[in-house]
Amino acid sequence: MEVFIEKDYEEISRKGAEIVAEEMKKKPENFVLGLATGSTPVGLYKELIRMHKEEGLDFSKVTTFNLDEYCGLAPDHEQSYHYFMDENLFNHINIDKKKVHVPDGMAEDPEAFCQEYEKMIVEAGGIDLQVLGIGGDGHIAFNEPGSSLGSRTRVKTLTQETIEDNARFFENIDNVPKYAITMGVGTIMEARICLLLANGAKKAEVLAKAVEGPITAEVTASMMQLHRQAIVIIDEEAGARLKRKDYYKHVEKMADLLKKKK
Ligand code: GLP
Repeated sequence: MEVFIEKDYEEISRKGAEIVAEEMKKKPENFVLGLATGSTPVGLYKELIRMHKEEGLDFSKVTTFNLDEYCGLAPDHEQSYHYFMDENLFNHINIDKKKVHVPDGMAEDPEAFCQEYEKMIVEAGGIDLQVLGIGGDGHIAFNEPGSSLGSRTRVKTLTQETIEDNARFFENIDNVPKYAITMGVGTIMEARICLLLANGAKKAEVLAKAVEGPITAEVTASMMQLHRQAIVIIDEEAGARLKRKDYYKHVEKMADLLKKKK
C-alpha cells in the first residue's frame, strides 16, 4: 500500500486527479474508471473537469462504473448518486453517457440487476482504477461492518451510523434510504488500482484502523491491505493517528529523489 500524506484537501484532490489522468492516458482506447460519491472525491472531480477544459483530458472513450446507489431513488432524484455524479462530473466533461454505469436504485428485481452489473464490469474488461472514500464506520462503497470480505454487488442494509452521516444531504433523516445497491468488497478488490482518499480529523481514527489495523470485516476498508496496488491519499488531519506517518513521508521523499536522478 502506498500512503501519501498531503497538506490539505486541495492537495489530495490534485494528487488524486493526477494519478487518474496518468492512468487514463495509458489506456486511451478503453479505460474503465470506478467512481465514488460522498463529499471526499468532489475536489478530485473538480480537478478532472479543469484538466478536461484546460488541458484537453479526453473522456470520450472512458467507461465508468459507480460503486453504489440508494434503493428507491431514481437517477433524476436530487439525492441519488446518479444525480450527484451528473452534477459533479458527467455534465462537465465529454463522457459518452452510454458508457456511464450507476447501479439502478429503481430496479424491479435488484438481485438480478446486481448480477447484471457484475457482468457489465467484466464485459467492459474490468475496472482499471477505482476511486474510493471511507465511511465513518470504515466502510468502502456501502460495505458496512460485517460485510463479507469476498462479497459481490448486492443490496445492503445501511447502519444507523451511515444513515446519520448521510442525513446532511437530505431534508431530514427520515428521508435517507435504508438500503443501497453496492459493489461488494470482492468486486472492488478486482480493480487493478484502488485509490482511496480521506480528509479531515473525523476520519483519522477509522483511517488508521483501515491502513494499520488488522484486516477485518469490521472495517471493510482494511481489505486495501491485501490489494496489490492500493494508493491512499490523505491530508494531515486524516493521517493524524497513523503510527508510521513519518515512514510514509520518508518513502515519498525517497521516491521523489529517485525520480529526479533518472
Ligand atoms: C457514502 C458512500 C461512500 C463514501 C462515504 C463517505 O457512504 N457510499 O462511498 O466513501 O459516504 O462519504 P464522505 O466522503 O462524504 O465522507
